[in-house]
Amino acid sequence: MSLMHGTPSATDRSPQTGRTDPSDDTLEEGNLIPELLVNPLEDELGSARRAEPCVLVIFGATGDLTRRKLLPSLLGLAMDGMLPRGFSVIGFARREKTSQEFRKDLASAFDEGDEELLRSFEHWQDQVEYLRSSFDDPDGYQRLAKRLEELQRERGTPGNVIYYLATPPSAYETILHQLTDAGLSREVNGGFRRVIIEKPFGRDSQTAQELNTKVRAAFKERQVFRIDHYLGKETVQNILALRFANSIFEPLWNQKFIDHVQITVSEAIGMEGRGAYFEEAGIVRDMIQNHLLQVLTLVAMEPPISNEGDAIRDEKVKVLRAIRSFGPDEVRERTLRAQYINGYFGDQPVPGYLQEPQVDPLSKTETFAAIQLFVDNWRWAGTPFYLRAGKRMPRRATEVAIHFKRPPHLLYGPGDDRVAEGNVLLLRIQPDEGVSLRFGAKVPGPHFRLRDVRMDFRYGSSFGDRSADAYERLLFDAMIGDPTLFARRDEVQEAWRIVDSILDGWTRNDQIVHDYVAGTWGPDGANDLLGTDRAWRRP
Ligand code: BG6
Repeated sequence: MSLMHGTPSATDRSPQTGRTDPSDDTLEEGNLIPELLVNPLEDELGSARRAEPCVLVIFGATGDLTRRKLLPSLLGLAMDGMLPRGFSVIGFARREKTSQEFRKDLASAFDEGDEELLRSFEHWQDQVEYLRSSFDDPDGYQRLAKRLEELQRERGTPGNVIYYLATPPSAYETILHQLTDAGLSREVNGGFRRVIIEKPFGRDSQTAQELNTKVRAAFKERQVFRIDHYLGKETVQNILALRFANSIFEPLWNQKFIDHVQITVSEAIGMEGRGAYFEEAGIVRDMIQNHLLQVLTLVAMEPPISNEGDAIRDEKVKVLRAIRSFGPDEVRERTLRAQYINGYFGDQPVPGYLQEPQVDPLSKTETFAAIQLFVDNWRWAGTPFYLRAGKRMPRRATEVAIHFKRPPHLLYGPGDDRVAEGNVLLLRIQPDEGVSLRFGAKVPGPHFRLRDVRMDFRYGSSFGDRSADAYERLLFDAMIGDPTLFARRDEVQEAWRIVDSILDGWTRNDQIVHDYVAGTWGPDGANDLLGTDRAWRRP
């Protein structure tokens, strides 16, 4: 693996040489770090991070994900010269279509968008073809097997295949079963077979376990890549760089110095036509079970013994294991669920959740949740982690705010201007990606007055504009067989254990579903979870 060796994305390269940014020399100087996990030059020296020729088979390729995410990411990789020679895509889906029509559909995704991507697609589209079949038809898989053999001869892909399950989860089992029956999951003559599985991975512990069992019947764990696109975000990976490639933060990174941690994912969008899906999911299954808990593991984990995929995932799963399941009383005290009601976005009126298409007018599905968690281990005992996610909030913002404890003795007490929060290290995951540290400074003048000021790092100004999309990074990692940024079986299972206990508590308690007006920061009650001397940040 190399979580931090990093694919040299467009942002890493200097325009003149295409080589990795030499400002990495800070790392060479860094010598107080107990074990340096990063070798910034490894990619330049030609490491294993080069993909072998392979074929990507996308099941459900006519869906939104292919047009919106997978295709642009593949093109991004192509433009960066990161796709292997002979790389091909087979779209496998039910709709009647020729390869020509499939390519045309894909191209239409760029029509009003990025001219550069469209041109690049036109160059590249011959590598994309379509295979029409229903997912349960063995004949479709026989045709796929035949086509893979032909491609192997024509394009020199030595039997390497990645299957991408971009279908509704209800089709996973059938596809896995058919792939096994057709002998397509078996690795022969040194070629690899891998499977990428989209979320949701189950809808509770039991279904996740059942799915894991089915996956295991078809593939070995090392062949399985459960995608959580948050892990592909540069800023999420940077949590580890910040913690383990610097020596100034780690000594403070524990319950002695940190008062609490807030992880927020707020989204401005509402249902966007996904009402039916959301009714089944709710924000806890949609965002907290995966994205927020994954971010939490990176913030809270112990230093891994190396930057190998399993070393990192071993530490992440320990964090999840250290989070106790909630009993119904704890659910009542430490969690809150809510739904947006009609309000305004800017000056546009927007409907409430219950008025969204495909939503049951009596629905109790939550579009906002706030949760207080404790990681019961030596490092974090007594330090709360507050997680908050919501739709139809005032703006899109994902951030991790590390709130440090107050100085033990306040010399500059009540008269000062400082707001209540004290020192905060803010990891801005998106947008306006960066890291800032807030501290008090003396206001110039004859009085000793303090005000909060900020030291700021911005990705845009330090590294240039373009950051590779999360899917770009993850697709590439699957091609080179690096599982680090994918959720392992036990991580998924542990995350469901925690989430199940919350959802179960809500049902048992018949817990109130609060309201919040669309376009606001959630219900007032969300602040109560934090007690009297803490408050949610406004990103
Ligand atoms: C997806 C959720 O996993 O993540 C969506 O299903 C959500 O509901 C999306 O909008 C958010 O992703 P991002 O990258 O825009 O923060």
